[in-house]
Amino acid sequence: MTYRMYIDGEFVESNNRQTRDVDNPAKGEVLAQVPEATTADVERAIAAARREFDEGKWPNMPAAKRGRILLQIAQAIRTHAKELARLETLNMGKPLSESEGDIADAADCFEYYGGLANKITGEVNPISGRALDFTLKEPVGVCGQIIPWNFPLMMAAWKIAPALAAGCTLILKPAEQTPLTALRFAEILDGISDLPKGVVNIVTGDGPTAGATLVKSHDVDKIAFTGSTEVGKWILKTSAETNLKKVTLELGGKSPNVFFADSDFEMAIAGALFGIFYNQGEVCSAGSRILVEKSIHKKLVDAMAERARQIRLGDGMEAGTKMGPLVNAEHRARVEGFIRIGKESGAKLVCGGNRPGGELARGYFIAPTIFDHVDFNSRLAQEEVFGPVVAVIPFENESEAIKLANHSQYGLAAGVWTKDFTKAMHLVKKIRAGIVWVNHYHPAPMEGPWGGYKQSGIGRELGKYGIENYLQAKQVYINLNSKPVQW
Ligand code: NAI
Ligand code: MG
Repeated sequence: MTYRMYIDGEFVESNNRQTRDVDNPAKGEVLAQVPEATTADVERAIAAARREFDEGKWPNMPAAKRGRILLQIAQAIRTHAKELARLETLNMGKPLSESEGDIADAADCFEYYGGLANKITGEVNPISGRALDFTLKEPVGVCGQIIPWNFPLMMAAWKIAPALAAGCTLILKPAEQTPLTALRFAEILDGISDLPKGVVNIVTGDGPTAGATLVKSHDVDKIAFTGSTEVGKWILKTSAETNLKKVTLELGGKSPNVFFADSDFEMAIAGALFGIFYNQGEVCSAGSRILVEKSIHKKLVDAMAERARQIRLGDGMEAGTKMGPLVNAEHRARVEGFIRIGKESGAKLVCGGNRPGGELARGYFIAPTIFDHVDFNSRLAQEEVFGPVVAVIPFENESEAIKLANHSQYGLAAGVWTKDFTKAMHLVKKIRAGIVWVNHYHPAPMEGPWGGYKQSGIGRELGKYGIENYLQAKQVYINLNSKPVQW
């Protein structure tokens, strides 16, 4: 299969005809070719989005009409849901049932922001004297949106839907590894005749060329990025050095999943495993540090290991697969590097740590891996692995649990497991993270804000907060005096 990118309403190759092979990570085989955008290609997409923002209909269209178009997009995703889910799994590796969930979330996201489009209001400011003062909310402009490979179409929806609802135009760059659902989505968008050409552009290419062109451009007003902390910092710095773009960042994490002795034990085991092994652990909010009260430490680790060994690894397209392969060979090597670091640190490898053999040897699989007695200061406890590797750290009491939970440069998410309501609420207040789950892990409802404290990011996506990223406030002051100003 050969795909094309979507620039100014046209499906195009890159201007030098260069392409990139995209893999099926379960088989280690090439799945498709996509264009490798050059700087000139990205600049053409930026020019289209700039033109549509400055002179086009989209920002000035009645918000209710923009909202209705977003609802059409939601519906179109649902119509193509099966096909998109299959394509997601083929390209990214995750189990098909999880891709189906992601595609449904993508549709829900367009529906949420479709509904919100005409509910954005400014305010009247209570000033004194003969004057009227109010605040308009206006779209921020042309947005460059750079997304990772772990939830490809869902991440695209989280970025595109609020930007469109706000009246922005955009250029989306999917990750090199997983561009296929975004490109198929472009074809679906192209079928929505009310969406003007050039409002949404989708370019495929690498970070240092295609991504960086968006970041350095003086015609891009805002960058929304999800990915590594390292690249996020570079984006912030480079935006400051060019045209001081507005920047929102959703970065890494090393999220604590905290288990007290008074938690429901069955729920605890399931929550610990789901927290780290869902989506192969390739989740920014993965519960990758398990903090467990000493009195249940051994029991929990034993139970987790027993079940982790039974997790069915396989091709995501096969029914019954619980965990797919990692996204590519390079990422698997990175994860294996952390397994080596864990072993060398003296932590106890309880299960996994290896590549499964047999017919899975072709794909980029890693067995679910649990390290126990991990030193809370060690690299395995502090750095993001982004794979199916968890670090277990026992604690003595509530205050130690809080201290360990916060002992991280990151602050994306946290889980707290206990039946004691006041203890749970105390931890909710004390843990410095953007999302805290109590007796659950991972839900990311459209209606609430998603984002990180500390080095996990800047800004919030989803919910009403998510659209603020794409708006700016304009104050309007109206003099109601007819006398000349006195000075
Ligand atoms: P990355 O941050 O390099 O890539 C994410 C996106 O940024 C991709 O679309 C990539 O093309 C783009 N990008 C890379 N360099 C860029 C640049 N100079 N300018 C503009 N765009 C650029 O992440 P990568 O290499 O895929 O993964 C490395 C690690 O980052 C992972 O192991 C994981 O720890 C973390 N990560 C975190 C994610 C999250 O959801 N918070 C998602 C992906 C990765
Ligand atoms: Mg990278």
